[in-house]
Amino acid sequence: MSNEEIYSYKTSSSQLVKIAEIASRYKGRPEMLMKVVIQTQKIVTAFSASVAAVIAREMEIPQTQVYSFITFYAMLSVKPRGKYIIRMCKSAPCHIRGAKEIVTALEDLLGIKMGETTEDKRFTLEYCPCLGICEQSPAIMINDRTYVNLTPESVREVVRRYIREEVE
Ligand code: FES
Repeated sequence: MSNEEIYSYKTSSSQLVKIAEIASRYKGRPEMLMKVVIQTQKIVTAFSASVAAVIAREMEIPQTQVYSFITFYAMLSVKPRGKYIIRMCKSAPCHIRGAKEIVTALEDLLGIKMGETTEDKRFTLEYCPCLGICEQSPAIMINDRTYVNLTPESVREVVRRYIREEVE
């Protein structure tokens, strides 16, 4: 993917102001880039050229460094993603305790496969490493909330609440 394609997403100026405010807290501290990128992901679902430029300017680091950082972390995808990112733990304990059935329930309910985003840009399904709550597996995260001890029925019920926007 060329930089031009990656950077073809638009970001509103009010989003850029918020991102600038976050990045400016870490001026001259490139080691805080991870934190800035994670906080930025709460504001935008994709990193446009202007987002990278604003972070670079406010943190006083080269834009190329921001971009390589973003691409380095596969989890911090540069593709546009849904409003709700559903992350399914891919590690062994969850797998043993029924992750596959959870994935099937999610894919069937949303009509997409893992790694895809619904056409209305509301849901993205992806795998992630162990969420650190193996004793309550199988587990998923939806944005920054965790849901544990799931069954196909309970995960459908959780996601239906998001479909109906019955979550904050
Ligand atoms: S293996 Fe799934 S939370 Fe640890």
